[in-house]
Amino acid sequence: MAEKTFPEHFLWGAATASYQIEGAWNEDGKGPSIWDEFSREPGRVANGDTGDVACDHYHRYQEDVQLMKRLGLKTYRFSIGWPRLIPQGSGAVNQAGVDFYSRLVDELLAAGIQPVPTLYHWDMPAALEPGGGWRNLETADRFAEYAELCFRSLGDRVNTWITLNEPWVVAHIGHVSGEHAPGHTNWDEGLQVGHTLLLAHGKAVERLRALGGESRIGITVNLTCIHPASDSEADRAAAARGIAYNNEWFLTPIFEGEYPPLMREVFQDRLPDFTAEQWKTVQSPTDFVGVNYYTRQMVCDGPSSGSPLGIDSVPSDGPKTAMGWEIYPPGIREVTSWTYEKYGPTAIYITENGAAFEDEPDASGRVEDEQRRRFVEAHLLELHAAIASGVPIKGYFLWSLLDNFEWAKGYDKRFGIVRVNYDTLQRTPKRTADWYAGVIAANAVKTD
Ligand code: FCB
Repeated sequence: MAEKTFPEHFLWGAATASYQIEGAWNEDGKGPSIWDEFSREPGRVANGDTGDVACDHYHRYQEDVQLMKRLGLKTYRFSIGWPRLIPQGSGAVNQAGVDFYSRLVDELLAAGIQPVPTLYHWDMPAALEPGGGWRNLETADRFAEYAELCFRSLGDRVNTWITLNEPWVVAHIGHVSGEHAPGHTNWDEGLQVGHTLLLAHGKAVERLRALGGESRIGITVNLTCIHPASDSEADRAAAARGIAYNNEWFLTPIFEGEYPPLMREVFQDRLPDFTAEQWKTVQSPTDFVGVNYYTRQMVCDGPSSGSPLGIDSVPSDGPKTAMGWEIYPPGIREVTSWTYEKYGPTAIYITENGAAFEDEPDASGRVEDEQRRRFVEAHLLELHAAIASGVPIKGYFLWSLLDNFEWAKGYDKRFGIVRVNYDTLQRTPKRTADWYAGVIAANAVKTD
């Protein structure tokens, strides 16, 4: 039996997001979000699913925090729904929305669990969309106002903040490939959205610093492990372009004050620019980088792919999750080592990692999800190796605490370590949850 012990004070957690679990979409003064609207458009979400009820976490948060406590979680990453706090996206504050997150934070603290809120996990107030949403640079100011409201309302009890979740997905999947809200398909819009998100992130960091105090703040990016499908120079160059677009787009501006050189080469004048003052804001020092890691992508040169990047995806032979994503545990080590070597952040958190599988519950709702357990175990062992080689990884948030609304895939794809029965809303921990509780208690992964 081998035992891989993690550093003392390693932060073991789980993650969720507001639209994916809360439900209560129009209760207590909440305004609609772009996902409330998008999910109602025919054909956008599998089975026509919406987040109207989701896991009903809005009403069941106390039960959910008790669940977290039983698992021994040290920390919990959730997101704050902007339209719950500011229903129109700017202006009037909905106190009932503030109160909900305040109660959640209190409940977590009483259970000994450190709250780590993300300010934006994709549910923008729908009222901002007609004015251009993230395509409008001024939305960065609306976001900064909202961020400050969160800091002022919860900052006496929250000391770790994440500005944005996966800006690449907001820009690319929301505005280029169009599978996410608002569902646009336009490369130039995508570039502009990324631009606004960078400024929004920087402005939020500035607001927090201006308030003084010791709070820490960072951003969460989704890093894909991108490999060339062959050793040819053309495929290696394609992989480099893929890495620039997928992995460097947000980190290089924040850490180096410029867009990735390969993005400039590909997009040239189509890439918007900042004033010197705006660049300073974008580069506001952060305290950590949050990394979401799920899979590897193999790419080859694709001059006729129709994408300005000139890249094609090549299917890999490796095992896949129910999302069709390749299971590639070494990638978590590769992308975190790369992040550390390239940008030198003082801390890295894995803010998401996990997998959807075709769960088969027994009559009591119990799922023996051995595949998911092995997925998490394999990734933790790679993480352990990364830490041993000097990468400052300080915590791990499993995606997800609960089965939930998986965006365009609806409720079909289950990522939870706790099963949610969507008829009764009953929660039942899966085998992975019990196993994870053991890992947390031992601060170690034990393997045969
Ligand atoms: C990430 C999202 C998260 C969840 C997982 C599976 O891209 O941040 O909300 O959907 O994928």
